[in-house]
Amino acid sequence: MELDGARVLITGASSGVGAATARAMAGTGARLVLAGRDRKRLEAVAAETGGQAVVADITTDARGLARRAGPVDILVNNAGEGWAGPFTRMPPDRLTGLVSVNLTAPIELTRLLLPGMIEANRGHIVFVTSIAGAIGVGREAVYSATKAGLAAFAEALRDELRESRGIGLSVVLPGVVDTPFFERRGAPYDRSWPLPVPPERVARGIVTSIRRDRPESFVPGWLRLPARLRGAAPGAFRRLMRCFG
Ligand SMILES: NC(=O)c1ccc[n+]([C@@H]2O[C@H](COP(=O)([O-])OP(=O)(O)OC[C@H]3O[C@@H](n4cnc5c(N)ncnc54)[C@H](OP(=O)(O)O)[C@@H]3O)[C@@H](O)[C@H]2O)c1
Repeated sequence: MELDGARVLITGASSGVGAATARAMAGTGARLVLAGRDRKRLEAVAAETGGQAVVADITTDARGLARRAGPVDILVNNAGEGWAGPFTRMPPDRLTGLVSVNLTAPIELTRLLLPGMIEANRGHIVFVTSIAGAIGVGREAVYSATKAGLAAFAEALRDELRESRGIGLSVVLPGVVDTPFFERRGAPYDRSWPLPVPPERVARGIVTSIRRDRPESFVPGWLRLPARLRGAAPGAFRRLMRCFG
């Protein structure tokens, strides 16, 4: 779908991947609606990109956000949070919070905005998930589950919408991205490999997914290999993970 003239809602636009996506779309002719909670950071991105800032918590006010944003042609479900540590030590409020922001809220926003797209025979929805959802990462069990759930939702919805002309769905699966994500989750990224990619690279992946109507994009692209191996030969995948972690 072309960005020129499209009204685009990006969640999580006040930081990281969302802010980079807003910058990548600025100047394309897209009319940007940028959502986040931190007014100061959000308004700075809006001023830089010519977008409209809408301050909203997607876990408590998806309906208010959809009303203020809509109707939109493109929805980028990007806002999300992480949590890392042993599953049995995960505080219950972090568990429900993670499910709420990473899974329930994007599904709810989709429920609110998709009917307008179907009526217009025109629309595209991007789901920013994670490689963690495709392979399952230890100490990130609930995070992995929310991202796998969102990818399954997108796949099922794609099947349901196969008769609806003009509606595209893309899942974008980043690996490790250099954003405040790790600091916010309270656990720094401490592996030496793979190296984090800049958020601008994921933003380019999102823009290309929309323009070329790509169902699935890994960023960086080589991450499709472990994901495919996990699907095709799970035993071999687990053995490799034990060796190379
Ligand atoms: N960084 C990585 O390595 C990585 C890897 C794979 C996937 N991802 C995914 O990429 C997406 C973007 O993450 P990021 O790396 O850009 O992280 P980030 O810099 O921490 O940005 C997260 C964004 O989500 C917003 N957000 C969080 N909770 C929200 C809520 N309840 N309501 C509204 N907005 C909320 C934040 O808004 P405020 O700041 O305004 O609160 C912020 O704009 C996430 O879905 C994440 O899971 C990240």
